[in-house]
Amino acid sequence: MQSSWSDIRHDFPILSRTVRDGRPLVYLDNAATTQKPNQVVDTITDYYRSHNANAHRAVYALAEESTKMYESARDKVAGFINARDRSEIIFVRGTTEAINMVAYAWGRANVGKGDVVVTTEYEHHSNIVPWQLLTQEKGASLRYILMDDEGCLMLDTLDDILDEGRTKLVAFSMMSNVLGTITDVEQITSRCRRAGVPTLVDGAQAVPHMRVDVESLGCDFFAFSGHKMMGPTGVGVLWARKSMLEKMRPFHGGGDMIREVHKYESTWNDLPYKFEAGTPNIADVVGLGAAVDYLERIGMGNVRRHERELTAYALAKMADVPGLTVYGPRDPDRRGGVISFNFADVHPHDVAQIMDEDGVAIRSGHHCAQVLMERLDVAATSRASFYVYNTKGEVDVLVGALRKVAEVFKLG
Ligand code: ALA
Repeated sequence: MQSSWSDIRHDFPILSRTVRDGRPLVYLDNAATTQKPNQVVDTITDYYRSHNANAHRAVYALAEESTKMYESARDKVAGFINARDRSEIIFVRGTTEAINMVAYAWGRANVGKGDVVVTTEYEHHSNIVPWQLLTQEKGASLRYILMDDEGCLMLDTLDDILDEGRTKLVAFSMMSNVLGTITDVEQITSRCRRAGVPTLVDGAQAVPHMRVDVESLGCDFFAFSGHKMMGPTGVGVLWARKSMLEKMRPFHGGGDMIREVHKYESTWNDLPYKFEAGTPNIADVVGLGAAVDYLERIGMGNVRRHERELTAYALAKMADVPGLTVYGPRDPDRRGGVISFNFADVHPHDVAQIMDEDGVAIRSGHHCAQVLMERLDVAATSRASFYVYNTKGEVDVLVGALRKVAEVFKLG
């Protein structure tokens, strides 16, 4: 590891801020978005100050620099997730756009009447709604891998669906944004490969927090976002096997994605450009490259170890808070640094507001996972989510604020 944990915090000036009349900020909403280190902010500023030009379109010096910086970020991302070929990395706006791209460009050609698309009960809306749109349009059906009471998938429910023989795609997240459950991806991809069914993995909550190797996971599509891994908003990645991308029609039509355009027909550019129509988000892609460099310097094994330790510490301390229900797997090896909880009849927004008075930033609501809320039989939860820059001291502040909620509402 390049530096100590306190050095890491120095790279994030926002973490030294105070809020609400001088309370130190305790930022625990990392599943929603992460803070950005100076190295990412400076890289983006430097790009605009010294290198800004459109990419892939001109031969002058600035344009060459801009193109080189953009393409070098592609190499970094490919290395980070162990893609076999850099042309399998498509830059998009984020996970949502990546999944919609697959639903549109792959799904519309491969899913038909009577077919089945499978997802899970703990998906984010971005891995449910695109499949609802697709299956409704095609007369296909959407089915769910069910979850047990601890928040782990019951894979025999997948086996039953696969046995029926109509499944065209299984789409699931590698880590739940609400429960923190880490999905056993290889268990699912191996079952699906045996059945000849492609798989899509929503890696938005996983890539920032653990080593991901798309080749060994055995999936066909993998989506993630830059802003949840210290990068800027508005940039993300769709990785897909080259053999899949080659067979797919484009998603967006426009500049740079074509080889030739004639009055009534066009031919497509090579991969990955066939899927990157229009001026790309160059500065933010370059910023994502800087985020990858930053995480590589820390080491993803170290990131995971630190977050596992914080999560185990938090779970143990939260177990003693009166009236608190914590969702998701008990075993910190089966979950990432995301902890959702509720106090009996207290509304999660009230909980979040009381925490805010102590400077603790958590999210409350349905977390874009209403199917999961229905399964848990709650309208909403509060959620604390950690990243590599969080400390045990901050967990103590969180737990202290939770105890305050219990006191205010006379629980326990
Ligand atoms: N998907 C983000 C979250 O879980 C926004 O909060």
